Amino acid sequence: MNNKNNNNLDLIVQISDEVIYCSNCELCHTRKNAVPGEGSASARVIFVGEAPGKSEDIQGKPFVGRAGKILEAALLNANISRSQVFITNIVKCRPPGNRRPKRDEIIKCNDYLNKQISVINPKIVCILGATAYSSLLGGKEITLNRGKLININGRDYFLTIHPAATLYRRSLLRVLEEDMMKLSKLIVE
Ligand code: URA
Repeated sequence: MNNKNNNNLDLIVQISDEVIYCSNCELCHTRKNAVPGEGSASARVIFVGEAPGKSEDIQGKPFVGRAGKILEAALLNANISRSQVFITNIVKCRPPGNRRPKRDEIIKCNDYLNKQISVINPKIVCILGATAYSSLLGGKEITLNRGKLININGRDYFLTIHPAATLYRRSLLRVLEEDMMKLSKLIVE
């Protein structure tokens, strides 16, 4: 590993430690574990979901439940391995009952994601679903905009659906797979 990678790793570990002990919002009282995110500190792509669910809360790792299995399969199908990328969420602690994160929780958690993006400085930030789209970019209608690469303030964002959406509409699996294939081409370009 070169110096830059070593330094990135140190900074990512530092951010994770801050998240683990965070008490900025009320979610710290109900979580079992905070879920800072995991993966390569020099990843070419960062995936951003909504918030940890039950399995993630138990394990302290992102996307390890049903939605995670779907994401991982779509990545594998596109020849992207989990260890190559960085996976995290807008909000780092599980909202009780898997409710949507509240606006103030999103705002209080914002800095952690911004720091992760700035340290890793990936080629592309991949937005998974409506909550990440609206929280990070103020966007609406992820289903109409999915599959698009957009540039905002010099950073490239790729938009796709949340993997959990495929649990309710099986036909969306194909959509997620297609988007991951497209993303895999974009990150090597
Ligand atoms: N859904 C998310 O948005 N994030 C996770 O980590 C798991 C499920």
